[in-house]
Amino acid sequence: MTAYNFMPCLILFFVQLITSCVVGGKVPAIIVFGDSTVDTGNNNQILTVLRSNFPPYGRDYYDKKATGRFCNGRIPPDFISEAFGLRPFVPAYLDPMYNITDFAVGVCFASAGTGYDSATSHVLNVMPLWKEIENYKEYQKKLEAYVGIQKSKYIIQEALYIVSMGTNDFLENYFAMQSVRAFQYTTEQYRGFIIGHVENFIKEIYQLGARKISLTGLPPMGCLPLERAANMLRGQGDTCSNNYNDCALKFNEMLSALIQKLNKELPGIRIAFANPYGIILQMVQNPASFGFEVARIACCGTGLFEMSYLCNKLNPLTCPDPNKYVFWDSFHLTQKTNQIITNSLMKNVLHQFV
Ligand SMILES: *[C@@H]1O[C@H](CO)[C@@H](O)[C@H](O)[C@H]1NC(C)=O
Repeated sequence: MTAYNFMPCLILFFVQLITSCVVGGKVPAIIVFGDSTVDTGNNNQILTVLRSNFPPYGRDYYDKKATGRFCNGRIPPDFISEAFGLRPFVPAYLDPMYNITDFAVGVCFASAGTGYDSATSHVLNVMPLWKEIENYKEYQKKLEAYVGIQKSKYIIQEALYIVSMGTNDFLENYFAMQSVRAFQYTTEQYRGFIIGHVENFIKEIYQLGARKISLTGLPPMGCLPLERAANMLRGQGDTCSNNYNDCALKFNEMLSALIQKLNKELPGIRIAFANPYGIILQMVQNPASFGFEVARIACCGTGLFEMSYLCNKLNPLTCPDPNKYVFWDSFHLTQKTNQIITNSLMKNVLHQFV
């Protein structure tokens, strides 16, 4: 054995050291697709009634600004971006206050009310997923013009993609009254139909360069205050809708299987399953153990049905302290809940990308 044998290792070591210095952090940007769980303000710029750019939305955001986030404060992409050492918020692609300089380290294409199924986006006239992808393609061109081809390739490949939607496909579309989809498909078939769309979507962004993906599962959607209230009206008592929770559980199992399959099938891809079901159910069932006081109803208004324009500053019933509530409006979580979920995701799932 001579010292000579170690040379290749040493050289490799220095090459790695130099590359890691040049390229910096492992996740250079956060790129977001999905619905209101992750929309940071795109719906403000389109013709829809599904908006939240007025008080009391944003009452705990920077400068108390109502940005279009369906929350009293920040939502998961904001907390995730901060956790990766990037900005503590992710700007919306359609927001005229921002440009490619800002979007180079994080951008959100999500549209509240949308889903994997294009028919879902028609219910409230919001952006279908194909439109989010169109905007993403336009972003890639602008990014290349701004940082050059090599750096833009690096950003596109190393960015963390947050994908979060699906609840609207079931609650606003399939299970809604007069639903066309419910005539076409059994619930089980519709879950399969949506999973097919998830697969196509992941393959499409993979083709476009995405490699690190956080794919969000469905929450216990039968426990959303709106669905609880509907359950009560149906005379089934003040409980979560078992039917909807069961649907979410079954869907999440299929999503988990799809993720395993795609991680094997697509070279270089890393899809993490960001499943919020368990922790949200724990918060609903035992709010006190997380420091909450109320999980049955939301903070805004009566807490039973208000969201978007019905959740406004004229409503005298809105709670004074959202930190005591799991839900902000009848369909969305408070900032505090979003923070708890993100902390758990970072610790258990997303740390692999740090
Ligand atoms: C983006 O906006 C900033 C501040 O408004 C401005 O200085 C900059 O030139 C803009 N960048 C591009 C690429 O348009």
